[in-house]
Amino acid sequence: MKELICIQGLGFVGAAMAVACARAGTRHNGEPVFDVVGLDLASETGLERVRKINSGEFPFGTTDLNLIQQTKAAHLAGNLKATTDNEILRQAAIVVVDVHFDIGDLTGEGHLKFGPFLNAIETIAQRVKPGCLVVVETTVPPGTCAKVIRPVLDRCSLERGLPVDSILLAHAYERVMPGEHYLASITDFWRVFAGHTPASGDACEKFLSQVVNVADFPLMRLSNTTASETSKVLENSYRALNIAFMDEWGRFAERVGIDMFEVINAIRKRPTHNNMKQPGFGVGGYCLTKDPLFADLAAKDIFNFTDVEFPLSRIAVKINQDMPLHSLGKIRKALDTLANKRMLLAGISYRQDVADTRYSPSQPFYEIATHEGASVICHDPLLSHWDDLNLPVESAMDTCPDVEAVIFAVPHKEYKTLVPAIWLAGKTPYILDANDCLTGDQRAQFAACGCRVESVGRGILE
Ligand SMILES: NC(=O)c1ccc[n+]([C@@H]2O[C@H](COP(=O)([O-])OP(=O)(O)OC[C@H]3O[C@@H](n4cnc5c(N)ncnc54)[C@H](O)[C@@H]3O)[C@@H](O)[C@H]2O)c1
Repeated sequence: MKELICIQGLGFVGAAMAVACARAGTRHNGEPVFDVVGLDLASETGLERVRKINSGEFPFGTTDLNLIQQTKAAHLAGNLKATTDNEILRQAAIVVVDVHFDIGDLTGEGHLKFGPFLNAIETIAQRVKPGCLVVVETTVPPGTCAKVIRPVLDRCSLERGLPVDSILLAHAYERVMPGEHYLASITDFWRVFAGHTPASGDACEKFLSQVVNVADFPLMRLSNTTASETSKVLENSYRALNIAFMDEWGRFAERVGIDMFEVINAIRKRPTHNNMKQPGFGVGGYCLTKDPLFADLAAKDIFNFTDVEFPLSRIAVKINQDMPLHSLGKIRKALDTLANKRMLLAGISYRQDVADTRYSPSQPFYEIATHEGASVICHDPLLSHWDDLNLPVESAMDTCPDVEAVIFAVPHKEYKTLVPAIWLAGKTPYILDANDCLTGDQRAQFAACGCRVESVGRGILE
């Protein structure tokens, strides 16, 4: 009989992890090694995600054809199911926690809110059998496993008459990248983890070795869960800071008339600098917008330090939040005013080739532009509705609508193949390439058609 794995939380991470676990063992035409049941809340979205998985469909729009195919294959093999019934936890050998951990207040002035996350942990602790391994994949503030989750597991074990430490606890963070290689970003990528005890570390190592291609991507085991949690938070803070840093250089480039992308590409040739970020439209998504605040908040709320602060991280979060306002300012200047102007916002998701709109920089852009009297048509090839704002989204657009400005905000593949002369159909709107969405050739073609063309990070009128 196969071991049962419960994946708690069928969001962008949990749904893909459920497929990865269900396909574990099948890489070389072998048999699946686990039975997998995804668990979500009986909310409207939770029920929809459960329904889709139970019909062999991946619950989110994705450009990863392999993920779509592997979801179907797991459904046909009969070892991937989903439910909203927590009682399934009683049968689990392993529970993977993929529920979200929100920070309500993104100014960094608030406090950590453990409530909903700890409810999920309690649901597990009240049901699982002794010896069950709980693997926390959620990005959590450093110290959460040792100082917040472990006491909850132990209290529930005592209430159930089980020995303390009867539930094994580990942290193994995700580096999943929704996009073309969504599933492979779980199965074929380096994974960092740590156990709360040596036994839980060993159990987690055994589990991950069955899901991840460890022959090519050996696991990295850290000394304790706080180190593993810190690793994830630092990894994301590093990226967020890198982006905030490039924002000021992009503005400089615009003023002095140079192309910052050309400069960065020259610098990236140097191996020590090959991961330099670039100027853009803004930072969105569930992770980079909040994770740089986690260490600062953990220092205060988990470790009770009064003398440990992360000023750079906090400034980076603020700079990144303000980035879309820069694009808005450029359009306001080009059109004199936003009042009564019509514009096309091309790209709603927070990143290219994903259908995720959480904390998308397009949202503040849209809200401020419409507040100032502009009417904004939204386009995104991967979306037909913008749930956060309850707005319709055009997912196809063969020709440019009747607008005075077009802003390319997300470098979706579709935009790079657009042929300006055909698409414009005689119109000449102001074009802003806010995120290196167009090729140099496309920008030149827009200009040749009579459009005024500007870019974020390029101080050259095309
Ligand atoms: N999205 C990414 O690209 C990404 C990448 C790496 C890490 N992460 C981290 O992974 C975690 C999950 O992210 P996500 O994007 O999948 O979040 P999500 O919001 O898409 O999904 C979370 C899911 O958990 C469910 N849930 C909440 N409470 C529950 C409970 N008590 N029982 C069962 N289900 C419950 C929600 O209904 C939801 O479906 C976060 O910590 C995030 O920071 C995300």
